[in-house]
Amino acid sequence: MAPSSLLLHFSQRRLSHSTRGGFFFVPTTLALLTSLLILFYLFTTSNIFFLHYRHQHRQPSLPVEKPGLPSSGGSRTPPVTGRSFPVSLDGAAGSSPVEKSPGVGGPPVAGESGDRGVNAGQHGSGDRIKPRGDHVNSNDVYHNRDVFEKDYREMNRSFKIYVYPHRRDDPFANVLLPVDFEPGGNYASESYFKKSLMNSHFITKDPTEADLFFMPFSITRLRHDPRVGVAGIQDYIRDYVANITRRYPYWNRTGGADHFYVACHSIGRSAMEKASEVKMNAIQVVCSSSYFLQGYVTHKDASLPQVWPRQGDPPNIMSSKRNKLAFFAGAINSPVRKKLVKAWRNDSEIFAHYGRLTTRYSDELLGSKFCLHVKGFEVNTARIADSLYYGCVPVIIANHYDLPFADILNWTSFSVVVTTSDIPLLKRILKEVSSDKFSMFQSNVMKARKHFQWHPSPVDYDALCTVMYELWLRRSIVRVPLTASFGSN
Ligand SMILES: *[C@@H]1O[C@H](CO)[C@@H](O)[C@H](O)[C@H]1NC(C)=O
Ligand SMILES: *[C@@H]1O[C@H](CO)[C@@H](O)[C@H](O)[C@H]1NC(C)=O
Ligand SMILES: *[C@@H]1O[C@H](CO)[C@@H](O)[C@H](O)[C@H]1NC(C)=O
Ligand SMILES: *[C@@H]1O[C@H](CO)[C@@H](O)[C@H](O)[C@H]1NC(C)=O
Ligand SMILES: *[C@@H]1O[C@H](CO)[C@@H](O)[C@H](O)[C@H]1NC(C)=O
Repeated sequence: MAPSSLLLHFSQRRLSHSTRGGFFFVPTTLALLTSLLILFYLFTTSNIFFLHYRHQHRQPSLPVEKPGLPSSGGSRTPPVTGRSFPVSLDGAAGSSPVEKSPGVGGPPVAGESGDRGVNAGQHGSGDRIKPRGDHVNSNDVYHNRDVFEKDYREMNRSFKIYVYPHRRDDPFANVLLPVDFEPGGNYASESYFKKSLMNSHFITKDPTEADLFFMPFSITRLRHDPRVGVAGIQDYIRDYVANITRRYPYWNRTGGADHFYVACHSIGRSAMEKASEVKMNAIQVVCSSSYFLQGYVTHKDASLPQVWPRQGDPPNIMSSKRNKLAFFAGAINSPVRKKLVKAWRNDSEIFAHYGRLTTRYSDELLGSKFCLHVKGFEVNTARIADSLYYGCVPVIIANHYDLPFADILNWTSFSVVVTTSDIPLLKRILKEVSSDKFSMFQSNVMKARKHFQWHPSPVDYDALCTVMYELWLRRSIVRVPLTASFGSN
């Protein structure tokens, strides 16, 4: 019996059992009431609803596109559409030479221009015209490209971050300083974020014009600092927050809701144990973003992509022969990975390696159609960014992972999400992907990858700018005015 039908069977049994017991309606009614209250609370407090509200009311300023002419770029005005803007969404630096070559097992996959052919041509029926005149292409990598482009430009123009300074003789300056080295390793995203942010135009020295306040402590450095270590991180953070709360007026205005920190190592999660206001109010930008874990609050917090830093682009991303169906390599350190290896270790099409890889990792990623991201200790690994970098379609087997940039990117258009219980069906699921669909996945992979690349100084639509966009969506709009003691006197 398939796992899903087992589940259904089980829940039906439970349902009929509890109905018989007569205790069915009371909990259901209570649950319903609670949900309504939560919805009401969210509606009255959350930015997200207001953002959508604002989008709708800004719509009239968007050019209404003629149905059936989805990409007639010529007559559109550059400032609004962005296609002929200096940096277009599809103009990822370095991806153009690659997109000329044919894809694997399907029709040629092309970039900007060819993509129009694909979307407007054979997949033309997938285009939808929304009632309010918004053109939405359901094969696009973005949920709504027009809204994203427009908001991105607004964010890019106006968004300002204030970074809390520290005294020159602060004994923990090493933890707070800007990053002056080349970030490396598995948790490089944390250092790259700080490095790239400090080199960006988002920084302001004037806290009164800041949208958000950045607490620049590095979880990675705290972890390795012999004076702090894993055991001392919680106390350090508590003291840090107490200090900025006392010395500056900004924290108290919002209870920390316009403050954020960034961490890639999962230890960051427990680091806030003694600073509950950070956990409850501040925006936590973390790699280990799981719906399942308390301490991570979806929508308030944001997912930071875990990226193994690489320079330049690999050659032959699209023209390489992808002969293998799927590939995984890594330590078998979790029940999910055990399950994967148990099911597929001897398979001739799904390569699930454990122990040392004898071939080159990059060759495997270039030689496979699908690359598996499988939950280890945490939901996050660098494998999603690895797959995108090498043009391989990611398969995500990590239940409850709040995927990076899910507010913007339509993950179902460039990846396959498989629940852990479906691991035995993996081959069937992947084989059912038609060559047309695979081509769409792959051409979207080529568009999504720029959002997963860091640069020492930010480049439009790269990882830093996209995280900035996520932060912009979460910026606070409500602030308690400063008390008299911080007023004019
Ligand atoms: C996301 O992509 C899938 C696959 O292309 C598509 O079916 C779906 O309609 C898209 N969703 C949105 C909101 O565009
Ligand atoms: C974002 O801002 C930078 C710096 O002002 C500018 O160079 C760049 O063109 C902007 N990008 C977009 C897409 O507006
Ligand atoms: C907080 O301030 C005190 C007093 O200035 C200082 O000794 C301590 O190092 C600070 N702690 C942190 C974590 O910034
Ligand atoms: C902020 O509030 C805390 C707790 O009420 C208080 O101890 C602190 O002095 C306040 N900070 C400022 C700058 O007024
Ligand atoms: C894979 O091969 C090993 C060794 O030949 C064998 O012990 C194991 O049962 C096989 N596993 C599966 C899932 O076929």
